[in-house]
Amino acid sequence: MTTSTERSLVLVKPDGVRRGLTGEIVRRIEAKGYTLVRLELRTATRELLAAHYAEHEGKPFYEPLVEFMLSGPVAAIVIEGERCIEGFRSLAGTTDPTVAAPGTIRGDLGRDWGLAVQQNLVHGSDSPESAVREIGIWFPEGS
Ligand code: TYD
Ligand code: MG
Repeated sequence: MTTSTERSLVLVKPDGVRRGLTGEIVRRIEAKGYTLVRLELRTATRELLAAHYAEHEGKPFYEPLVEFMLSGPVAAIVIEGERCIEGFRSLAGTTDPTVAAPGTIRGDLGRDWGLAVQQNLVHGSDSPESAVREIGIWFPEGS
């Protein structure tokens, strides 16, 4: 079997940073065996989020999502490891924290704050193409 070392873009969203969960989320990433390639606390901009969430532009949740993502710093992280794109999505759990499985970041630590699925602690790239695109958006200088 061939190996497939990948990089993925992970964000600890403003709710995660505000709640002091950055360390716990990074702990889970490291405990899984993924390597941290980059880790920076950042305040997003509208331009950056327009690129990051381009696939969601025009959807009803888009504007509130952008406002939420601008509401405080995020931890922008590049991780590396075997199949870490799919692997981190599995660690994160499904999008809606109410039904995300126990044992996952969203399932253990996330909840519905009356905002449906908006505040779900983390982002993880969903494909190799997205990972390359998103790492380029958050770390244009290269990683
Ligand atoms: P999406 O890419 O579908 O989910 P994921 O983060 O699991 O890849 O959606 C991006 C983010 O948009 C999601 O993490 C939270 C937010 N969102 C909403 O606010 N409302 C919604 O109905 C959906 C589907 C997503
Ligand atoms: Mg997504």
